[in-house]
Parts: sequence; C-alpha cells; structure tokens
Amino acid sequence: MAPKAYVSPVVDSTLVFKQDIFRGKVVFCTGGGSGICRGMTEAMMRHGADAAIFGRKLERLTQTASELSEATGRTCIPTSGDVRQPNMLKEAVEKTLQRFGRIDFVICGAAGNFLAPISGLSENAFRTVMEIDTIGSYNTVKATLPHVRFSKGSYVFVSATLHYNATPYQAHVSAAKAGVDALAKVLAVEEGPHGVRSNVIAPGPIGNTEGMERLSNKAPQHLGINAGPVGRIGDIKDIANATVFLFSDAASFITGQVLPVDGGWEHLRTTQ
Ligand code: HXC
Repeated sequence: MAPKAYVSPVVDSTLVFKQDIFRGKVVFCTGGGSGICRGMTEAMMRHGADAAIFGRKLERLTQTASELSEATGRTCIPTSGDVRQPNMLKEAVEKTLQRFGRIDFVICGAAGNFLAPISGLSENAFRTVMEIDTIGSYNTVKATLPHVRFSKGSYVFVSATLHYNATPYQAHVSAAKAGVDALAKVLAVEEGPHGVRSNVIAPGPIGNTEGMERLSNKAPQHLGINAGPVGRIGDIKDIANATVFLFSDAASFITGQVLPVDGGWEHLRTTQ
C-alpha cells in the first residue's frame, strides 16, 4: 500500500516564537481590516505589539480593531482612508503617533484585484490597481518613513507570485506587484544605513481570502490553482508566521528580499 501523502501542519507563530518579542512596539498596517493583512496584524499583536489598521471601510476596521484587541489583550485602533490619498495616510500616521507615540513596523498590504483580460481592461481599471497597490505602497512609505527611521524599524510589503510568469487576466496586478517588489528593494538599500529593513512577502493561493474567492472560483485553471507540492492550499497563518519572522530580530540580516510563501505552487506552475 502506498504511504499516505504528508500534509504539512499550519501552526500558530506563538508555538515557535516567544510571545513578548514585539512588546512596546507598534505596527501600522494598510489593508488590515480583513483577510491576510488582518491575520498579519493579529500575529504581531499576539507577540506583544499594539497596532493601527488603515483601510477604506471604517465600520469593518472598527469591528476588526475591537476583535483583535479583545483576542490579543493588546490595543488596535482603526484609521480610515484611502492609500491613494497621501493626506489621509499622513492623518492616520498622526493619529497612530498620538495614541502610541511611535511606529516600528509597517505592513503595506492594501490591494485591489479582479480578473480581466487586457482587451477588457479600461485605462482607468489598469490605473486603479496601479494606484492602490504600487502608488499606495509608495504613499505609505512616504507617510511613515521618518518615524520608522527614528525607531530603526522595518517594512513588509504584501506582493504576489502572479508576475513571476505570465498570468492571464492579471496584467494590472502583475504590473502593480512588480512595482511593489522593486520599491521594497530600493527602500532596503537606501534605508539600510539608517537601520531600516524592507522585505516582501509574496503569498501564493491562500484560502478564505477575498483575493482567492474573487480569482479562483472563476478561473482556477488560468491561475494554476489545482494541486500543490505540500498537499494543501495556504492559510492566513502561513503569511502571519512569515511576517513575525521577518519583523523579528532573527531576520536582522535579511533585507531587500522577496519571500514567496506559496508552498512551492509557483515552481509547480513553471514546470507544468
Ligand atoms: C474589469 C473592472 C472590474 C472588473 C472594476 N473595474 N472591476 N474592470 N473587470 N471585474 C474597473 C471599473 O469599471 C473602473 O473602470 C475601474 O476598474 C475602477 O473601478 P471602481 O469600482 O470605480 O474603483 P474603486 O471603487 O476604487 O475599486 C477598486 C477595485 C475594488 C480594485 C475595483 O473593487 C477592489 O479593491 N476590490 C478588490 C479587493 C481585493 O480583492 N483585495 C485583495 C487583493 S488580492 P472604468 O473604466 O469603468 O471607469 C491580490 C493578490 C491575489 O491582489 C493573488 C491570488 C492568487
């Protein structure tokens, strides 16, 4: 009888890392109201950080902030706005500083996505995703950098693996995320001498997220979401665990890197 396939477990980062490694630190997260970025923020809070989450939907942010505070015993505040509006980010940063007095870690995660072929993608549709993902990340860096320099903190950008190969119906997101990767690398080399690190997490297919629901239900064959080397689809905890590592001192010699957290799916897609 053939041995049963090994399926890797998803563990909580608190089983691997000490629970107080981020005590006294503050994380600022765009897109933190839901999905992957909410999970990244929660993990940081479970290790002692306070947080500010930034997004367009105030009601959802307020609900999430209250749930995260209750679940972790730390404080999370909602700061509403649009990453395409630099002044809104500046106001959110001010609010975060008034509440917590510092910003150590920044997660640039706000993103937009939908499936559309280039032939059906309007100029405004393409620009909208570029503005949310790429320019929104730039705006977030500009609003936070003086404070992250002061605390000698660190950035994590949320990208994707879609642009490593040509993914149909994802021209807008592929172009936008390639820009995010480049921005993060330049930030790393410019800011390294100031004690600031900058890395990218590139999630593969992660279950129970808006991105996956929007994309995979419609065209799994185009995205290559069929089967994966580790025998399971990704979990938000997988991204959260990588976030804790990259922000931790254990990653102090890691900067300017893109870390795919995709269970090897992208390698499989290239060999199909
Ligand atoms: C074609 C579309 C479209 C669609 C919107 N547009 N949806 N075009 N197909 N399905 C066009 C609109 O017609 C319009 O162009 C332009 O895009 C802007 O749309 P608006 O709705 O006016 O913009 P806005 O309100 O700012 O909304 C932005 C959005 C939003 C991107 C469209 O719906 C959004 O952010 N949704 C997704 C959130 C999400 O899923 N986040 C997770 C991303 S996951 P015209 O020409 O008509 O004016 C991710 C990684 C995935 O990125 C990896 C998976 C493996």
